[in-house]
Amino acid sequence: MFVTDNTLSSVKNYFFDRLAAIFSPSELKSMWTQIICKRMNWSTSELLLNQGERLSESDLLHVRGFVKGLLNEVPFQYLLGETDFYGLTISCDSRALIPRPETEELVAWISEIAIPSNRIIDLCTGSGCIALALKSIFPNTEVSALDFSLDALELAAFNAEKLKLEIECIHEDVLNFSSEFHSDAKSYDIIVSNPPYIPEREKSMMSNHVIQHEPSIALFVADEDPIIFYKEIIKFAQDKLSKGGFLFFELHELFGNEVSEYLSLFGFKEMEIRKDLQGKSRMLKAQKV
Ligand SMILES: C[S@@+](CC[C@H](N)C(=O)[O-])C[C@H]1O[C@@H](n2cnc3c(N)ncnc32)[C@H](O)[C@@H]1O
Repeated sequence: MFVTDNTLSSVKNYFFDRLAAIFSPSELKSMWTQIICKRMNWSTSELLLNQGERLSESDLLHVRGFVKGLLNEVPFQYLLGETDFYGLTISCDSRALIPRPETEELVAWISEIAIPSNRIIDLCTGSGCIALALKSIFPNTEVSALDFSLDALELAAFNAEKLKLEIECIHEDVLNFSSEFHSDAKSYDIIVSNPPYIPEREKSMMSNHVIQHEPSIALFVADEDPIIFYKEIIKFAQDKLSKGGFLFFELHELFGNEVSEYLSLFGFKEMEIRKDLQGKSRMLKAQKV
């Protein structure tokens, strides 16, 4: 299908026709709205009112770029360069995982905590979405964001600056914390993490847009020990979580009980596993007594 003229409605028809085999009409509508509103700096009502508007050649090229990228299975959020997360616009690109809705549910759970939190650390921060959302919820709390990927940390720092939310970015390996960092006197009231947790064996069942475009360091763990990150974080929390403090995890629906058992070996109590909106057990809270 070709674009007959450059009116918005004609370009919209082209966009929908080219992608109809891959996306549902509601997905296409949502993507179309986001692309045009961002590009033209319009509200959604302006988009409705401006259907007869003519797009410039460069706007048309911009839309064609999205069509090409989507046909090549590039995730929409990477093409758009941003996504909404807990009311924040988080810039995202292939340096870090795209923030997911179930992770927003984890943040919502943390927001219910009534204890005063002086210090929070988000381990495996990626784009910084969890750390930044928590800073926006608890503005007086010191929030740190840690990752091993320098690319991801650069993106987290960029997001922090853009959103004017002050967080400390730390470059460390969760599987092998440096002795300087570990011996640092700081303790935390909340430790949160959404670490890599997908066993390599599940790769073949995953869609191309994830495995070919999102960083594999953010996703996969060895089949032999899929809860390795949780084990190391629990050991870290044993030293660095304040008494009465909380540990929050996002996790694979199959490993909640295994992580819970490991927590009890380290003296944690009050473990609670919650289901996400899709009914999968994907979040865990534990308290240090
Ligand atoms: C599942 S992603 C989570 C990103 C973000 N927290 C979110 O919820 O969207 C896991 C993150 O762990 C980081 N990571 C992988 N191995 C790590 C390690 N050994 N130490 C610290 N971070 C690591 C990756 O770079 C990635 O950003």
